[in-house]
Amino acid sequence: MIWTILLLVQVILLYFILTQRSRSKSDPPLDRGIIPWLGHALEFGKDASKFLNRMKLKHGNIFTVRVAGRYVTVLLDPHSYDSVMNDSESLDFTRYAQVLMERIFKLRLSHRQMAKAKAMMTLHFMGMNLAALNSTMSRHLKALLKAEMPQNQKDWKQKGLFDFSYSLLFKAGYLTLFGGEKNNNSSADLSSVYEDYKKFDGLLTKIARGTLKSDEKRTAQSIRDKLWEALAPAGLTEDAGSSLWLHAYRCLLQEEGADEETQTKALLMQLWATQGNVGPAAFWLLGYLLTNPPALTAVKREFSWISQEAPFMDRAVKTPVFDSALEETLRLTAAPFITREVVQEKKLHMADGQEYLLRKGDRVCLFPFNSPQMDPEIYQEPQKYKYDRFLNEDGSVKKDFYKAGRCLKYYTMPWGAGTNGCVGKQFAINTIKQFAYMVLTNYDLELCDLNAQMPEVNPSHYGFGMLQPKGDLLVRYKPKNTH
Ligand code: HEM
Repeated sequence: MIWTILLLVQVILLYFILTQRSRSKSDPPLDRGIIPWLGHALEFGKDASKFLNRMKLKHGNIFTVRVAGRYVTVLLDPHSYDSVMNDSESLDFTRYAQVLMERIFKLRLSHRQMAKAKAMMTLHFMGMNLAALNSTMSRHLKALLKAEMPQNQKDWKQKGLFDFSYSLLFKAGYLTLFGGEKNNNSSADLSSVYEDYKKFDGLLTKIARGTLKSDEKRTAQSIRDKLWEALAPAGLTEDAGSSLWLHAYRCLLQEEGADEETQTKALLMQLWATQGNVGPAAFWLLGYLLTNPPALTAVKREFSWISQEAPFMDRAVKTPVFDSALEETLRLTAAPFITREVVQEKKLHMADGQEYLLRKGDRVCLFPFNSPQMDPEIYQEPQKYKYDRFLNEDGSVKKDFYKAGRCLKYYTMPWGAGTNGCVGKQFAINTIKQFAYMVLTNYDLELCDLNAQMPEVNPSHYGFGMLQPKGDLLVRYKPKNTH
């Protein structure tokens, strides 16, 4: 027995010696962390923003850290982001997306299938198709909001704002894209899909990092099963009101030879991709408006000039104040990692003239939340919500922000950028705008405690798109008294 243990220890030691990486002159500063193999994984997962700020103070704008056996080069200089965003040949988006898809959704799709699906989705979320989606979304939002409100104009209903925003937008998004209204999918069914989805969403960061405890693993699998059942392709027919995009997506998967099980898994992935960020973004927006009365007044005043009949159908209708308020919200709460896998060795040219070598097999990660979005060199009082931060004094859109004396191309990046930027950006913005317009124009919505502050963010969410709050903000609402 003792010999077996000694041998095992020797093998493990040899493994670490052989896989130990040393830094060469052309590499970015290397920080392995003290824990073998895991490296900095724990600190990274706990609060990535804090960890990356600490590393930046230690090493500067670029460094390589070891995270659960992988080497990740983190780049935090927005002036140098283009050298990553513009090179999809050496830096690949799909491989890491495939890793996450497999971990989270148990789904395997090929490079080709993903490229085809993306091209198809891009077409379905622009032009006339987008206009049709916006109008279906508007119809569902109107009906769901009406059903959510107390019938009586004197009674208030209370709820957490996060729950209010996420549940309504999830349901409206589900009905718009996946259908169900003409099916037997009653509102009770939809609520139960939302409840399951919320549980899954709550475990998602742990699933992605592979840190679920064994009981959580079982829970995750049983929720996955329930959501797969709800999304089984047979139920999602065009007759049930599902979108043209969903129909085309399913046809594409079938043509590509995906079996029913793979199709269902792909639908759950799409459910998360299309719904996971919009509800949280709408929550932060309404929350910041409610806790900043001058901002709320300014947005309401702008909305009051817009006709209630199909308010945003006419493209001539401009909403610079709302747009700035939303941009400011996303600056503070959109925190995706922009991750790429290095598929061939690459020389990275930094804006300050430095050059570094990126090694094949490593990952590169940008974290625009830390810089530019929360960078005090770019934004004064970056923690503060200033609804008019993206407006010039004459009311036009402000786009010139500076770092190190130079105007920035990327001064905020909630949607990513370049080839792999968000396909659903316009649809998401339209949805949030319509939702905010309906809530603020047709209903009374206010804080239960007028002195309430915004809840803190859940730090384990850094890196996964929109942040989520740790608690909630209690609000009350009712139909507006029109007399
Ligand atoms: C507030 C809402 C949203 C935010 C903040 C957001 C953010 C992002 C970001 C940051 C990326 C880029 C990831 C990267 O470069 O690594 C992305 C990609 C993507 N988004 Fe969104 N998104 C939102 C809503 C949506 C919606 C509603 C849809 C679909 C209708 C959508 C579909 C996609 C797709 C398909 C991609 C992948 C693009 C590719 O494969 O190259 N997103 N999104």
